[in-house]
Amino acid sequence: MCGIVGYTGTKQAYPIIIKGLKRLEYRGYDSTGVALLNSGLKVFKKKGKVAELEETLVGEDLHGFAGIGHTRWATHGEPNDQNAHPHQSSSGKLAMIHNGIIENYASLKKELISKGYNFTSDTDSEVLLNFIEEIKTKNNCDLEEAIRIALKRVVGAYVILLIDEDNPGTIIAARKGSPLVIGIGKNEHFLGSDASPMLEYTKEVVYVNDYELAIVKPNELILKNLGNEILTPFVQKLDIELAAIEKGGFDYFMLKEIYEQPTTIFDCLRGRLDVENGTIQMAGVQDNLDKLINANRIIILACGTSWHAGLIAEYIFEELCRTSVEVEYASEFRYRNPIIIPGDVIIAISQSGETADTLVAIENAKEKGAFIFGIVNVVGSSIARTSHAGAYTHAGSEIGVASTKAFTAQLAVLTMVALKIAKEKNTISNERYRSCLNELNDVPVKVSKILESNDLIKSIAEKYKNFTNFLYLGRGYNFPIALEGALKLKEISYIHASGYPAAEMKHGPIALVDDSLPVVFIATKDSNIEKTISNMQEIKARKGKIISIITENDESAISVSNELIAVPAADEIVAPMLNVIPLQLLAYYIGIAKGCDVDKPRNLAKSVTVE
Ligand code: M6R
Repeated sequence: MCGIVGYTGTKQAYPIIIKGLKRLEYRGYDSTGVALLNSGLKVFKKKGKVAELEETLVGEDLHGFAGIGHTRWATHGEPNDQNAHPHQSSSGKLAMIHNGIIENYASLKKELISKGYNFTSDTDSEVLLNFIEEIKTKNNCDLEEAIRIALKRVVGAYVILLIDEDNPGTIIAARKGSPLVIGIGKNEHFLGSDASPMLEYTKEVVYVNDYELAIVKPNELILKNLGNEILTPFVQKLDIELAAIEKGGFDYFMLKEIYEQPTTIFDCLRGRLDVENGTIQMAGVQDNLDKLINANRIIILACGTSWHAGLIAEYIFEELCRTSVEVEYASEFRYRNPIIIPGDVIIAISQSGETADTLVAIENAKEKGAFIFGIVNVVGSSIARTSHAGAYTHAGSEIGVASTKAFTAQLAVLTMVALKIAKEKNTISNERYRSCLNELNDVPVKVSKILESNDLIKSIAEKYKNFTNFLYLGRGYNFPIALEGALKLKEISYIHASGYPAAEMKHGPIALVDDSLPVVFIATKDSNIEKTISNMQEIKARKGKIISIITENDESAISVSNELIAVPAADEIVAPMLNVIPLQLLAYYIGIAKGCDVDKPRNLAKSVTVE
């Protein structure tokens, strides 16, 4: 987590850095800071969001042609002014920003304290900076060499950007485990945790790899490995437009992204799903058909919302492909000693492609011989690059911290992968296969239809905003949707919510039910609907308030529900893509009604690059 920005060139660095930090605030927003080189080093930093720092800097001399900036998601040390980045070294000559965690910082700190160093913050980052300075002084070497030596002793993950008062115009960057992109301009270079800070200036970028170090000057970019060998930067063309990372008239990115779903799902299917010819074109699947068809077992690894997409995929793959599937939290899987046997296929699902737990889990599985298929949204991200093969979700930049459009695009990709494997494996009848292709094809239009219920959902949100607990229940394909609905509400509105399989409710959560508990039922028409209706009766008998997601024209849930939101009829394998939409809107409007910053919920960050 944490967002980092750097600039060196012929323009004023401050406005570029501040604008870039605002775009990277999805990565963390506990505190903000900027360091500028302008006849000396100046550091400005403060607890709070970027706009708050900006306000305090009115009237300051913010000139400088090089600088670095940071937006923090706190790990070591509470969010306050001292712990904000950039940190300055003991001599005051170096400034550094850091994204990641230095795991052995305590022993390094002890070593430095014994040499007389004092620390002004509680961070691991300040320790690394002074460690670099100590090496530079002791070895009488240049900063680049000192960084290289220091990083060989560092355990943990990092992207660091350093500037040196004695060497204005040069930024030195290094990466291991956290993302770093360098944008190439004319007599200028941009650095960022992702490409968003540089989009209006350049489309040419270099994704820095782990264990690489970049020496960045206005008209020179030198890339090296930690062994000091020069590497050739691989320059790639960005195909993101600025509009994609702006709000486009919506109050919040989350609402914009919810509304984008008809388009993003369509984009995800486009060029892949061919209903007329009955085909699905996915190069990553096609080129690895043998492995996927003959998979002994599929293990799905993911976190958060992506894990919920994995749970739905478990139902789809087992039903259509008859392959045994296990869905694991990447954060648990990586710390076990999981058994991977030849023929195991790992599917890693991640919006950002940078989630540390998912990344390490797949690296471990790869070492044990598993074939890794990545389903990722961010092109060129670490998980995409670590996977043997995969498929992008093509949902475009997702900026709201709560994942919405990435989730439905993940489901679209997973459904296509399952259908393609099932067809090749002959585990699906031709008739069902054709009908599933049609159902998938209809999803974007049906999602548009659901979005027309916006006002109804807003009024329900207004009515229920003051309840302090919610229960979400669903069966089969709708159970993971219950989990996802509950997660959205928790993260956006800070209301406690739990998701359960509807039948499990009798085994405990029913004790919570009274007239102060709203229960959201995903009760669309599927093979389990009668059973779900019985569960609804059980809640109603205990005076719980029932908000139901039902299928249009299906009357079975009407008499037991307090509130009804209808969605178009659909096959149960695509229904999750529809049923989640009202739950996204419900969470959004409850969050708004409660005055929450839904794009930047407290304590969260979009991309969880720490363990
Ligand atoms: O980028 P990823 O999909 O790997 O992220 C996984 C989770 O951190 C993410 O889904 C998180 O749970 C979201 N805040 C959910 O809205």
